[in-house]
Amino acid sequence: MELKKTVGYEAAKLVVDGDVVGLGTGSTTSYFIKRLGDRIKREEMEILGIPTSYQSFFLARDFGIPITTLEEHDINIAVDGADEVDLDLNLIKGGGAAHTMEKIVDEAAERFVVIVDESKIVDKLGGIPVPLEVIPQACRMVTSHVQKLNGVPSLRMAEPKDKVGPVITDNHNFIIDVEFETIGEPEYLEKKLNAIPGVVENGIFSGIADEVLVGTKDGINILNRKK
Ligand code: 5RP
Repeated sequence: MELKKTVGYEAAKLVVDGDVVGLGTGSTTSYFIKRLGDRIKREEMEILGIPTSYQSFFLARDFGIPITTLEEHDINIAVDGADEVDLDLNLIKGGGAAHTMEKIVDEAAERFVVIVDESKIVDKLGGIPVPLEVIPQACRMVTSHVQKLNGVPSLRMAEPKDKVGPVITDNHNFIIDVEFETIGEPEYLEKKLNAIPGVVENGIFSGIADEVLVGTKDGINILNRKK
């Protein structure tokens, strides 16, 4: 948690007065949102935030970040977490089931900065399942399609103390997590998964991150996209 906090706080320094900011989802981004709220108050900055989930919406409201929408503003900078990051800055996201709105916001930003602790950096993606947001009525059909791609799907279930049955996303859909062997071509698989009828969006983010701030025991490393 300490590394997540360090990197979240560091990312808050990247925002400048007048920015419209994409607000990612997850525990790392929560630190970013909190710190950005502190800066807005202390430095009397004029910032607008565009949330990627109900989680980031409520945090932004609680920490005093005025909210706007993509219908009204372009985004200068988006800051978001990730579940895996490879050395070409491809990502797997969706641990928090928010990857559809995250991809819309992160992709729209002029500058997309990823914040992670060092445990998320891998040589090749695929150590964790790829989440698919799926229209509930398409669940069985999507399952059968991903099996043909050699994926092993499982419907994400909620914690029974919170809700029985499947996780329901902010957009009222299901999540199917799909295990693959190492993902050799993330861009290809991202397109292939999104072409399945009933898949709203998948958690592979290929080629959209501009830089990654990595929290390590020795400080912060910055990975930049190769041009
Ligand atoms: C949510 C996400 C998160 O950004 C990702 O799961 C990382 O979360 P955390 O910062 O809590 O490790 O993609 O859908």
